[in-house]
Amino acid sequence: MNQFKSFIWGAATASYQIEGAWSEDGKGASIWDTFCRQEGKIQGNMTGDITCDHYHLWQKDVQLMRELNLQAYRFSLSWPRILPDGTTKLINEKGLEFYDKLIDSLLEANILPFVTLYHWDLPQNLQDMGGWGVRETALRFAEFVELVAHRYKDRVKHWITINEPYVAAFAGHLHGVHAPGKQSPVLAMLASHHLMLAHGKAVKVLRSITQLSEIGIALNLSPVFPFDPNSEDDQFAAQNYFLYLNRLFLNLIYHKQYPKEILEMANKNQKDFSSFLNAILPQDLEEIGQEIDYLGVNYYTKTVVKLDLQAPLFKACLTEIVKNKYSDLWDYYPEGLSYVLDMLQTLYQPKKIYITENGTAISEKQNDQARIEYIQAHLNQIELAMKKGVNIQGYFVWSLLDNFEWSYGFSKRFGLIYVNFETQERHLKQSAKWYAELIKDKRCQRF
Ligand code: FCB
Repeated sequence: MNQFKSFIWGAATASYQIEGAWSEDGKGASIWDTFCRQEGKIQGNMTGDITCDHYHLWQKDVQLMRELNLQAYRFSLSWPRILPDGTTKLINEKGLEFYDKLIDSLLEANILPFVTLYHWDLPQNLQDMGGWGVRETALRFAEFVELVAHRYKDRVKHWITINEPYVAAFAGHLHGVHAPGKQSPVLAMLASHHLMLAHGKAVKVLRSITQLSEIGIALNLSPVFPFDPNSEDDQFAAQNYFLYLNRLFLNLIYHKQYPKEILEMANKNQKDFSSFLNAILPQDLEEIGQEIDYLGVNYYTKTVVKLDLQAPLFKACLTEIVKNKYSDLWDYYPEGLSYVLDMLQTLYQPKKIYITENGTAISEKQNDQARIEYIQAHLNQIELAMKKGVNIQGYFVWSLLDNFEWSYGFSKRFGLIYVNFETQERHLKQSAKWYAELIKDKRCQRF
C-alpha cells in the first residue's frame, strides 16, 4: 500500500490571524487592518495588530511544531508585508526575509512548508483601486506570485494559490461580515471571478517558475441540507446554496465553466449583473481551469438552510446550529466530510486531495478531549474515503495556535496550542500531545 506511505500530517495558520506586527518593518496595511478598525465589525472591536505575535515569536513556534512532530506546516504569506502597496514598485526586503527565515527553520526541523499565497489580507492600496471587483487585482496577484515563486522556489514545493475564494468573495462582498465589508451581489460575483482568475494566473506563473512543485487551491466545501427535508422550498434553497458554495468553484476548476444556473441567473438579471457577465473574457475559463496537482479541502461542518427569497443570490438563510460539546461555532457532522469526498470523487475526480483545514473551536484551555474526539471522528471519515479509493495524501489541523478568528476576534479558540494573548505564553493542550503521538505512530505506516 505504497500510496499511504507519503501521507502528510500537518497544522495550518494564516498570516493575518497569527503574525501581528501589523505596521512593522515596512509592512503596508491590508483590508483586514482597515476593516478591524471600523466600529462593530469584530467581536469586542479586536484587531490582528498583535494577535499571537508570531512575527517575533516564530522561532518559539517552530520549536512547538517540532514538539508536535509535524511533518508539514501550512501558513500564508502576507502580501502587504512583502509588497506594501500591493505592487512590485516597492519590494519590502524585510518582509521577504521574514519568510526566508521561517522557511529555512522549518526545513531544518524537517517540516515541509505548504505556502498559501492568498489568505484574505489584500493590500489596502489595491482595495482602494477596486479590490477583487476589478481584473487588475488578479494581474497584481500574478506579479506578487512571480516574485515569491522566484524567491522561495528552491525551498517550497507545495503551493496553495487562494484560500476559500467562496468566503473571500461572499463573506467579504455580499454579507459584508469580512473585509472589505461590502454588500453587493454583483460585486460578490465579480470578486469570485477575479479571485478564480487570480488562481489561474498563479498556477501558470508557478508552473513556469517552480517545476517539480505541487500546486493547488483550498476550497471550503460542505453538504447543504434543507431545514425541512419535506419542504420543496427548503429543498430549492439547499440546491441554490450548494450551487454558490460548492459547484461554482469546482465547476470552474474541473469543468472550465460556470454552472449554467449561475449564468442563467445573471442573464435574467442583466440590469444588475451585466458587469459580471462582461468581466468573463473568452480566455478566462481556460486559464482558471488549468490542471492543478491537488485539491485542498477545508471541512468543518454541514450547512442547513431555509428558503429566504429576500436573500440575494442564495435565496436561502442559514438555520440555527444544534448546540453540541464539539464546537462553540458550528454543527458537529463528521459524516459530511465523507459526503464531500464522495461528491468530489463522483463529479470531479481530483487527482489528489489534501485536507488543508479541519478542526474546531472550543474554549477549554488544557483538557480539550472534545477536540481530540472531533479530529478522530473526521480522520475516521477520511480513512473510509481512502478505502473507497479517494486519493487523500495529507491532513492539516486548523489550527496550530489559538488565534484571531476573523469577525469573532479572540472569542473562538481553534488551537492545538493555547495562547495567552496578554502574555504571549503558549502551552500544548491535550489535543496537541495526542496529535504528536498520533503522528509518531502513523508516520511511515499506512494511515
Ligand atoms: C476557515 C478559514 C480559516 C479559519 C477557519 C476556522 O474558513 O480559512 O482562516 O478561520 O475557517
